[in-house]
Amino acid sequence: MKIDVISIFPEYLAPLELSLLGKAQDKGLLQIHVHDLRKYASGNHHSVDDTPYGGGAGMVMKAQVWGEALDELILDNSDLIILTPGGKRFNQRMAEELSTRSQLIFACGRYEGIDDRVRQHYSTTQYAERGIRVHEISIGDYVLGGGEVAAMVIIEAVTRLIPGVLGNPASIIEESHMFEGFVEYPSFTKPASWRDIEVPEVLLNGNHAAIAQWRSEAAHKRAENNQ
Ligand code: 6GU
Repeated sequence: MKIDVISIFPEYLAPLELSLLGKAQDKGLLQIHVHDLRKYASGNHHSVDDTPYGGGAGMVMKAQVWGEALDELILDNSDLIILTPGGKRFNQRMAEELSTRSQLIFACGRYEGIDDRVRQHYSTTQYAERGIRVHEISIGDYVLGGGEVAAMVIIEAVTRLIPGVLGNPASIIEESHMFEGFVEYPSFTKPASWRDIEVPEVLLNGNHAAIAQWRSEAAHKRAENNQ
């Protein structure tokens, strides 16, 4: 999978080079490239934003600048992900779907967002015929300063689902049942007693049916408490 991230703060995305993802890149499973949007800005001031038509607070990122960047980077069958608090809420199902794609492009908006004609343009049939899809995605109901951190959240959720990226594929298979309400049970490891708190007896006796039953009930109780 090829991942391109476009931002006016490319240094902000430095963690993408670290640890787990760094290794996946060394293994050739993944290529991550971070691009400075400003490189695509023309004019003497290299400005990437301007005042909004219709008035209002803040600045809007210019369509021309994003167009230059995206025209250079977009490939057939790519998913263009525009990060915006107004987008569709990201979830595990979307992560699974995105993990099967060949190229993800993350457009990190700042200010009051990106001129909507960028979304409109890359959503036309001309691009759809090339297998290009456009998504507006949010990671939750709160407002961030920009899409950079949201892009990193999505990249972490997606890349760990690519075969060979995670050390332990069994944990992925187990997790995929999570959304049937099963897996998020509390976990314990040795010692069996810590600060006078005992590990539940049922987990110590090797009765796998009883353990599955206990975990299912505990997961449901936990889900209720977190509503
Ligand atoms: Cl994707 N961007 C911004 N700016 N804020 C957010 C978000 C994205 N998702 C949740 N809040």
